[in-house]
Amino acid sequence: MAIDYNERIPNNVDLADNRRLQRALEAWQPGYLDWWGEMGPSDFSQADVYLRTAISVETDGWAHFGHVKMPEYRWGIFLAAPEADRHIAFGAHKGEAVWQEVPGEHRATLRRLIVTQGDTEPASVEQQRLLGLTCPSLYDLRNLFQVNIEEGRHLWAMAYLLHAHFGRDGREEAEALLERRSGDVDKPRILGAFNEATPDWLSFFMFTFFTDRDGKYQLASLAESAFDPLARTCRFMLTEEAHHMFVGDTGIQRVVGRTCELMKAHDTEDVAPHGGINLDTVQRYLNFHFAVSIDLFGGEFSTNAANYFSAGLKGRYREEKIEDDHVLATAHYSVPKLEGGVISESEEAALTVINERLRDDYIEDCEKGIERWNRVIRESGFDHVLRLPHRAFQRAIGQYREAHFTPEGKAIGDAEWSARKDEWLPSEAERAHVISLMQRVVEPGKFAGWIAPPRRGINGQPIDFDYVHLG
Ligand SMILES: [Fe+2]
Ligand SMILES: [Fe+2]
Repeated sequence: MAIDYNERIPNNVDLADNRRLQRALEAWQPGYLDWWGEMGPSDFSQADVYLRTAISVETDGWAHFGHVKMPEYRWGIFLAAPEADRHIAFGAHKGEAVWQEVPGEHRATLRRLIVTQGDTEPASVEQQRLLGLTCPSLYDLRNLFQVNIEEGRHLWAMAYLLHAHFGRDGREEAEALLERRSGDVDKPRILGAFNEATPDWLSFFMFTFFTDRDGKYQLASLAESAFDPLARTCRFMLTEEAHHMFVGDTGIQRVVGRTCELMKAHDTEDVAPHGGINLDTVQRYLNFHFAVSIDLFGGEFSTNAANYFSAGLKGRYREEKIEDDHVLATAHYSVPKLEGGVISESEEAALTVINERLRDDYIEDCEKGIERWNRVIRESGFDHVLRLPHRAFQRAIGQYREAHFTPEGKAIGDAEWSARKDEWLPSEAERAHVISLMQRVVEPGKFAGWIAPPRRGINGQPIDFDYVHLG
């Protein structure tokens, strides 16, 4: 499916045939561009950035690379190709034809799901707005902007669904997506993690590893939806999301790699005086971002999640690959349950613990990334091991939120928590040290002292390629 770039709004949804929708989106576009100007990457509107642009949604043809000024980027509306004769794969409507329009009884719920997903996209751009000023290299600067540009497009994707399928209240919600601001006291973004600051590049890499990965799992479960336009939108977004996680995954690998070099060169684990980031610091940032990100999956026991599933709105991760009846009326699933301060495994009705199951899939995926980071440490000759904290650690949502837990999952009292929390979470001083390392490096092929160069460049280009012309 080729994308029509001659349109004011590039798209593969035949927008030209739907004048009313086209006009509505053309009316939304200036507000979007104002938002990008105000809240997108600061100070780089004149820079030429080596970006990929989708030109078709086929697996082999959707990435076209070239230098572009970000405000001139051709954001648009791209859905994955329709699957002929697609049927609902799960829930009470299993086996029926998927919906091309929103059924009345699910309208409010679907709108809420789309708005909640849509709200995260501009939020992360806002959170990352100032990072360009302290980039460790042109290569990293380009990756940051690629992520930002695509989150902008994901906002377009959700605004399109709201405009196309939810009438007047959809248009109002699409406007509101441009009005909320990450971290704003009066009009914050909807979800907690998207109101946290991303003040430095270590946080950025952790965010793209952990929080964009939450996005992957949310999108994957929406990609199963009986509402076909939502499923197709999410399927295409997932192809872009992979790059965001790559940025975080390899970013931390390179931080860890550089730290190990400094540990060897100076024969010490404390590389902070030598301009590096200690492995203990990496662990504390990891703890923080993991906890904030797993909150995004919601409560462990959730009738909402059960209802979304039964209604066919939101499936499980890779629903069709799971071997069961996909209705789950009598099925069970084992989850950790907190009772009397003790966590133990408990068989629960599978429908009520859909969120926890998705969180399990996510945690398993995170473990693989951590193992890649540990391999870098091992291959450098050190026996330090990075670990995911227990899922009970530092939670604000769900059954663990009322109590304190160590990263090993042991319940502790307030006094012990206060005395020891700096062992487990970045302290102010530690954050200040990380921020002090963030000195801008923009000479092609050069990298800041706290991070190793990548193994290879983007799209086959050399590492010292001029990824961003600062102009
Ligand atoms: Fe996104
Ligand atoms: Fe993303």
